[in-house]
This record gives sequence, structure tokens and C-alpha cells, in this order.
Amino acid sequence: MLLSFLLSVHSRRQLANKLWARRFFINKLFFFSFSQRNYPDTMLSCYLFLIISLMISFRDVRVSGSGSSCTEYPVFTPPALIVKYGDPANFTCDVCQKDCSGDSSNLEHAVGKFTRNGTTILWTVDRLTEWDISLQCYYNNDAGDQCTTILNPTLYQPPESVSISFVNHTGPMFENQQYTLQCSVQNVAPVQNLTVTFHRGNTALRHLQSNHSEEKKPMNETFTLNITSSREDNGAQYWCEAKLELGPAGPQRPPVVTSEKLPAIVHYGPELIGPPNPDDITVTEGDTLHLNCSFVGNPSPSYTWTVPVNSSLSDNGGILTIKSIGFEHEGQYICTVSNTVGTVTKEFNIDVQASPLIWIIAGVSAAVLFVIILCVLCCRFYKQNRKGSYNLKDVLRFPKHTALPLQNCENV
Ligand SMILES: *[C@@H]1O[C@H](CO)[C@@H](O)[C@H](O)[C@H]1NC(C)=O
Ligand SMILES: *[C@@H]1O[C@H](CO)[C@@H](O)[C@H](O)[C@H]1NC(C)=O
Ligand SMILES: *[C@@H]1O[C@H](CO)[C@@H](O)[C@H](O)[C@H]1NC(C)=O
Ligand SMILES: *[C@@H]1O[C@H](CO)[C@@H](O)[C@H](O)[C@H]1NC(C)=O
Ligand SMILES: *[C@@H]1O[C@H](CO)[C@@H](O)[C@H](O)[C@H]1NC(C)=O
Ligand SMILES: *[C@@H]1O[C@H](CO)[C@@H](O)[C@H](O)[C@H]1NC(C)=O
Repeated sequence: MLLSFLLSVHSRRQLANKLWARRFFINKLFFFSFSQRNYPDTMLSCYLFLIISLMISFRDVRVSGSGSSCTEYPVFTPPALIVKYGDPANFTCDVCQKDCSGDSSNLEHAVGKFTRNGTTILWTVDRLTEWDISLQCYYNNDAGDQCTTILNPTLYQPPESVSISFVNHTGPMFENQQYTLQCSVQNVAPVQNLTVTFHRGNTALRHLQSNHSEEKKPMNETFTLNITSSREDNGAQYWCEAKLELGPAGPQRPPVVTSEKLPAIVHYGPELIGPPNPDDITVTEGDTLHLNCSFVGNPSPSYTWTVPVNSSLSDNGGILTIKSIGFEHEGQYICTVSNTVGTVTKEFNIDVQASPLIWIIAGVSAAVLFVIILCVLCCRFYKQNRKGSYNLKDVLRFPKHTALPLQNCENV
């Protein structure tokens, strides 16, 4: 029994024309190869076929028999072929063990090299560059049925580039608004095995999978994610990561390509920090007053102060300092805070009250003054009293005149 096998490479166009065209083509090739080899035995009962064809198929490996008489099917090793585009590849096909036997023959073709060893076909290729490749290994058994196994290798290509951007938006964002991030992945295959993860800094935001149907050739794909900006996002960096998940038969480390980092600038404010200041502030004359008009905002807000009197004020951003406050500083202080997002104002009403020290000094001074006045008065009367004692000799003469002042003086 003479065995032979056949290789053919079909273009999709040829296939699309007519299904039977493939058969015809195969048969032609087969007989061509047969005649070229010039085998003498024309009574063939079992043929081995290996067909490398460019065709669409929906499973990695499938077996089929045109009749129920197939007792075994060709076996591919490895059972799944996942190859990076342009990389070398190889596989073997054990066409049959029981049903057939044969001699050795080799065939070469443009796509890869074939080596036949008994009923095993080894196929190697230095650079696999056919996107839509389908491998068919089959034999015709004694009953004339075709027992076929089809292997559809997966050719993959890591994303050529991955980029991230905002859809229809440039420049800074505003707080609490919705924006759309877009991750564009270019020239990746197979696109249906592509997943994309959006990140903000070290946080993964969303994991998305391509919803493309089966497509073997490289594709461009974009993924979008809606985000609502918050002030915490200011300074954060958005990026996305594209990954080809090729399953356990794929490469050990799935190809991953990350985008550049897109810094987020969120503008907001101005907004008051902390509890509101009391609107009416009473201060004591001579004190130092700090009016705290601290607001947050991005960009950093600028402050302007409207004040009743300009003397001895120092204005440091949101803090206005008045040293040694006087009654002239009484009145309304308006702090106007603005950035590119908005402008707000804050008013302070300042009442100045006299220092209690003034009252103490005044009180003490008044008391001292009173004492001095009393002393002066007292001493005057004492002097008069002393004069009276000089005139003691006259006491008998003028008793009423001298007695009264002395009495007053002792009462003090
Ligand atoms: C076949 O491929 C495997 C894995 O891709 C490799 O380890 C092996 O060396 C290849 N064999 C030949 C003969 O090319
Ligand atoms: C053919 O296969 C047999 C058994 O699998 C092996 O011993 C032999 O070395 C192979 N021959 C070639 C040329 O690969
Ligand atoms: C972007 O803007 C253009 C024109 O303003 C509009 O036609 C398009 O639909 C927008 N795209 C998205 C995704 O909003
Ligand atoms: C993918 O995008 C690149 C650059 O924009 C373009 O050159 C290429 O033709 C696109 N590929 C497909 C399949 O659309
Ligand atoms: C990814 O690729 C592997 C191998 O080709 C396949 O088994 C798996 O179903 C694919 N996953 C998706 C989501 O397409
Ligand atoms: C101003 O007020 C804010 C909010 O209460 C506070 O964080 C800040 O330290 C104050 N500044 C000064 C100089 O007191």
C-alpha cells in the first residue's frame, strides 16, 4: 500500500469562490505530487493529507469524518499552536496508527517545511506570517471516508502602541464633572483576546474586554471609561494597560503594553477651609489681630483686602495682620478670593474696645491724684493747726476760732 500526503495553501479568495474548488485544487495538487514522484502503484487505498489552508474556522481543533467508518483521527502535537507573528513554529501530525501504513515521502512548500516519517508529518516554519492559517490533517480510509483533524493556530501580535487621552477634552478639568478617558490600542491580534485595564496611579479603575468578534488580523481597538473628576484626582496620573490573554497554551507571560501617563489637573474653588470665621470680631485696643481668610482652590487663589484704614497692615495671602490695633481700625474688612474658577468674598466686622489696662491706669491715677489732693488739703489744715498751737497763749482769748480746724484735720 502506498501512502502519500498532500500540502496545499489556499488563499481566502479562492476558498470564498466555491467550496468544491478546494477539493478540486487538493486533488489536482495531490495527483500532481503523485505524478511528480512518479509512484508506480496506482491502486491507492489510503492517503494521508496535510492541508495548510487559509480559511475560516471556529475552533482550535476539530475532527470530522464524512462517513461513520473513521475509527481514529489524526492527532496534532502540540494540540494548540499559539505563535507570535513572525516567530518560528512547528508541530507534528500523527495521521493514523491502525488504519493505514505507508512509505516515506517528503514535500516542501512555501509555507514551512514538511518532513514525513512513516505516518507522522513534522511541519516547521522559520517565520509564521500567515494570519488566517488553518491546518488540516486527514487520511482516506479503506472505505473511502475522509478522517480529518483541523488545527487553527493562533497568531498573536502584541499591541504596537497603547495611548491614553481624554475624549473631546484638553486642558484642566473641573470638579464633579464627567469626562471620558479613551485607551487606544493599535495593531493587536487577536483582538478578541485583548483586555484593557484603566489605572489612576496605583489603583486599577476598570477592566475591560474587547467585544470584537473573531478576527485574526491585527486590529485597532479603543476602550472608554467615564470618570467623574474630584479635587483628589488633581495631580493623579491616568494610564491604561493592554494585555493579550492567550490562555494556558499561550506564552508564559502574556504580552502587556502600557500607555504613557496622563496627568490630571482638576481646577476647583475657592472654598473656605475649616469652620467659618465669626463675622463680628471684637478686639481690644493695642492688640494684634490676625484675620484668617484661608481658602483652598486650584489654581491657588489670590487675595485682595478692602480695609477701612491702611495703616500698619500686613497682608500675607489669606492672613491679614493688624499690629497694635486702634479705634481707627474699626470697621468692615472684605477679603476677595479669586482663581480661574471663581471669586468669593468674606467680610469681617471689627469692633475695637478700649484696653482694660487703660481703665486700671486711669483708676489708679485717679486714686493717687485723690490721695495727693487729700494730703495737700490735710497738710494745709495741719499747718493751720500748728499756727493755732503757736497762738496757744491766745486760746483763752480765741477758743472758738482755733478748735474747729484741728478737729477736721484729725478726722481725715
Ligand atoms: C518546536 O517548537 C518547540 C516549541 O516551540 C521548540 O522547543 C522545538 O525546538 C521546536 N522543534 C523544532 C524541530 O523546531
Ligand atoms: C522516525 O520515527 C521513528 C519513531 O518515531 C524514529 O525512531 C526515527 O528516528 C524517526 N526518523 C526520522 C528521520 O526522524
Ligand atoms: C466630540 O466632539 C465632536 C464635535 O464637537 C462630536 O461630533 C463628537 O460626537 C464628540 N465625541 C464624543 C465621544 O463625545
Ligand atoms: C490602526 O491605526 C493606525 C494608525 O492610526 C493605522 O495606520 C492602521 O491602518 C490602523 N489599522 C487598522 C486595522 O485600522
Ligand atoms: C484567547 O485565546 C485563547 C487561545 O487562542 C482562547 O482559547 C480563548 O478563548 C481566547 N479568549 C477570548 C476571550 O477570546
Ligand atoms: C487659618 O484657618 C485655617 C482653617 O481653620 C487653618 O487651617 C489655618 O491654620 C489658619 N491659619 C492661621 C495662620 O491661623
